[in-house]
Amino acid sequence: MKSTPQDKTNLDPNLVEELTVSLSKEVSKRRNFAIISHPDAGKTTLTEKLLLYGGAIQQAGAVKARGEQRKVTSDWMELEKQRGISITSTVLQFAYKDKTINLLDTPGHQDFSEDTYRTLAAADNAVMLEDAAKGLEPQTRKLFEVCRMRQIPIFTFINKMDRPGQEPLELLDEIESELGLLTFAVNWPIGSGELFRGVVERATKEVVLFSRAERGKQSNEIRLKINDPELKNLVEEELLTKALEEIEILDEAGCDLNQELILSGELTPVFFGSAMTNFGVRPFLDNFLDLSQGPVARNSFDGPIVPTRESFSGFVFKLQANMDPKHRDRVAFVRVCSGRFEKDMTVQHARTGKQIRLSRPQKIFGQDRAVVDDAYPGDVIGLNNPGMFSIGDTLFIGPRVEFEGIPCFSPEIFSWLRNPNPSAFKNFRKGVNELREEGAVQILYDKDQSKRDPILAAVGQLQLEVVQHRLASEYGVETRLEPMGYQVARWVKGGWPALDEVGRIFNCKTVQDAWLRPVLLFKNEWNLNQLKEDHPEMELNSVAPVV
Ligand code: G4P
Repeated sequence: MKSTPQDKTNLDPNLVEELTVSLSKEVSKRRNFAIISHPDAGKTTLTEKLLLYGGAIQQAGAVKARGEQRKVTSDWMELEKQRGISITSTVLQFAYKDKTINLLDTPGHQDFSEDTYRTLAAADNAVMLEDAAKGLEPQTRKLFEVCRMRQIPIFTFINKMDRPGQEPLELLDEIESELGLLTFAVNWPIGSGELFRGVVERATKEVVLFSRAERGKQSNEIRLKINDPELKNLVEEELLTKALEEIEILDEAGCDLNQELILSGELTPVFFGSAMTNFGVRPFLDNFLDLSQGPVARNSFDGPIVPTRESFSGFVFKLQANMDPKHRDRVAFVRVCSGRFEKDMTVQHARTGKQIRLSRPQKIFGQDRAVVDDAYPGDVIGLNNPGMFSIGDTLFIGPRVEFEGIPCFSPEIFSWLRNPNPSAFKNFRKGVNELREEGAVQILYDKDQSKRDPILAAVGQLQLEVVQHRLASEYGVETRLEPMGYQVARWVKGGWPALDEVGRIFNCKTVQDAWLRPVLLFKNEWNLNQLKEDHPEMELNSVAPVV
């Protein structure tokens, strides 16, 4: 009989030892990351190039031919086709050198950044991708804040160096001053745009000359020592001098490449390159593997759970319905946190206490799927979800584990959701509840219980449209949205008693979330600041407390 971690107690101690060693080995092979960027910075392009270097073990229907990507990113939903946007997120796994790398991909459209927030909760590292001409952009700043909360290492790739960009020193300065993150440039660009000639690698003191790799091909790197006389025939002297002078400034005034600061999320290694021409991607990947962290211990309510804990544990970070409309299925994405996951395993569901046999775990999402036989910490598996899993749920074997939940982030648009047809009320309520559980949208309610229509609270307008569309197509309910004109939500620390103590407050609306906790809605930041000034004793959170 195949042994599983449940029955280790009955196993030969030598076999237990062997299983433990093999688990440690698998854990040390794993690397996992998500890319944070603003749309158009080149996330899809960089992902494509990264996959070129790794034998793509699993590819989750995400990266498609460029032209096609724009039109139809995934066809799980009609709305994606109509709007030509990517709503779904996926997981890609590839092997490179001796590592297995999991890239937790996120939706391309910023209105779905809630999804990205949750995916970041499952990532051990983040790659911050910037367009050299644009520098830091709003979506990147927002997602960076989530990384900061989790203190995960951030690796910066400054993209599109083959196009005219901002001064590299200014780009670093922006990261330092605006994000409060120390920087260490691992390589330094020689020129930019038409005059981009390559980079100087600071560790090796070598110049890597810029060349455009053919589409779909790995790049051929030409490297020369910085004092190689041949260099002056290949690179204009003034460009090289400028780059070397700037490196001197960095050597004197900048900080060192300190691994500890990288791992605590205080220092970001910075790489300059051009994803489209496949320049600088491989050195980036090599350095990333050296400097990034493997699967980390996860906080549970009973302390941290290390990945080498013998038995399996994991948590649901994302739910997705109808990825395959033909089957009307729902998939729960589970991040493996400890132990070895095996097909057909019976696990415990921490929230409900139920035992669940996981007979068809999947490793490929989107159009192509395969049943997975095993998975290790840092990997992501997809489980069929007939409504039993919610975001943040823990699954485990052995001694009880319950991971700390995933916070909800502050919505920015609010709208009443009206159901004009009373006979459809049951379906309406079912649909709203299921979409909330799935995390498609946050739901708030008026404090006055008699007003039963829900308030949809979302990060982007499209999120609301998706909910309306799905209520119509999946639950047969036509609804109407009535915008509310609020822009900011804050949870009150201490709940209703804390709010009662403050007494009457002005210029905000008090509503409650699905857990009946008070939420204050403000028309703008100015009104929020006013409240903070009037009541400095109140503690307000932009992130919902974890339940
Ligand atoms: P995203 O997923 O972050 O939204 O960005 P995506 O990779 O789709 O890239 C956005 C645009 O930027 C694409 O151009 C892409 O080719 C271009 N791009 C990405 N990396 C680089 C780079 O290193 N240099 C240059 N010059 N361009 C880059 P597009 O015209 O919108 O699409 P396409 O016609 O190339 O398909």
